[in-house]
Amino acid sequence: MKKIEWSKWPQYGPEEEAAVGRVIRSNQLFAEREVKAFEKQYASYIGRKYALGLGNATQGLHLSLAALNVGVGDEVIVTPYSWISSASCVLMQNAVPIFCDIEKESLGLCPKAIEKKLTDRTKAIIVVHMFGYPARIKEIVALSKKYNIPLIEDASHGHGASVDGEKIGSFGAISVSSLHQRKSISVGDGGIVCTNDPDIYEKIYKLRSFGHEELSYNYRMTEFAGALGQVGLAKLDEHNTIRRNNAIYLKELLIETDKISVRIERKNETAVYHAVLLEVNYKIVKQKKQLKGLQKMGVPIRETWDPLHMHPHFNPVVKPSRGTPWLEHNYHGEMKNKTYSNLFLPVVSQYCPSKILELYVHPPTGEKEIEFAAKSIMDILVS
Ligand SMILES: Cc1ncc(COP(=O)(O)O)c(C=O)c1O
Repeated sequence: MKKIEWSKWPQYGPEEEAAVGRVIRSNQLFAEREVKAFEKQYASYIGRKYALGLGNATQGLHLSLAALNVGVGDEVIVTPYSWISSASCVLMQNAVPIFCDIEKESLGLCPKAIEKKLTDRTKAIIVVHMFGYPARIKEIVALSKKYNIPLIEDASHGHGASVDGEKIGSFGAISVSSLHQRKSISVGDGGIVCTNDPDIYEKIYKLRSFGHEELSYNYRMTEFAGALGQVGLAKLDEHNTIRRNNAIYLKELLIETDKISVRIERKNETAVYHAVLLEVNYKIVKQKKQLKGLQKMGVPIRETWDPLHMHPHFNPVVKPSRGTPWLEHNYHGEMKNKTYSNLFLPVVSQYCPSKILELYVHPPTGEKEIEFAAKSIMDILVS
């Protein structure tokens, strides 16, 4: 088979050029009109009262915890399957990340595992909708209400996804989304937080730009990001339809094999397939090598991410000057005398990284590429 030229994401065009040109001509490059307009449009799209544009989502996660008054020695429930920021943000407030296992259907946090770890030290739960597949958000919201612990949604992969018709990012006390170059709304670097709570809004507003008595930051969004965000948001639904059609078509094409299955949304959900996830149901003898073979053919497929509790941030060889809150003598919580890398998290250990494969199907990827991917997966991985 001949190599394929897989479509690149993102592809900026005349609309983005016009947006950037508009900012240049305004002679105002730092947060003003464009950022405000984007915030208003994004809040309305998600169905929240307030949105605040930031430099990136990592800043959003940090400020969310600060706004909820999470501090030294407090505990925050986090998932081991995500990008590092979803757990390292807890260390930014000198609090202690408590990793709970994921569950098999959504690959998001397992509600039962969360409930077992809740104590009077737990000050927040951070749930992530990985690759645009909604987590078990309704059950987690119920827990958050039952125990009165605020929920933060990391919706960085989930722009436009929904559960029972309600948008991902509208369930938590706060939601955070990345607008990084690779994300579905792609502005280079950017992030946005949403909330319905005027106090949280006010606090994040002040923390974002040197405005609070408490240590505040310069975490502002640029006008370029605000202008590009508006273009990305206007195209989002159309782009998500393409991603979703690609995922469903791939599932149809691979239906004959029980060795690899394509994960698609559950009944009450609309997923947005930031990547399509495939599940490997048998032992591929030389999986890494085979995947390299597929990549050489032009198919952007790879194993998913390593579990976060193994990451050096939580297992430092040299004690960081900032400190290690779970090792402090006056900390007596869940992580007392425990080592992150020794935590027993069987589901994430079973699935990550090698049982789940990511395939990128962003627009303008279409039928030709999906057919090529299905055929080469059958030839190279399932042979
Ligand atoms: C799930 C998730 N959360 C947070 C982030 C951090 O986003 P940013 O790069 O905008 O800080 C990422 C980045 O990839 C992510 O994938």
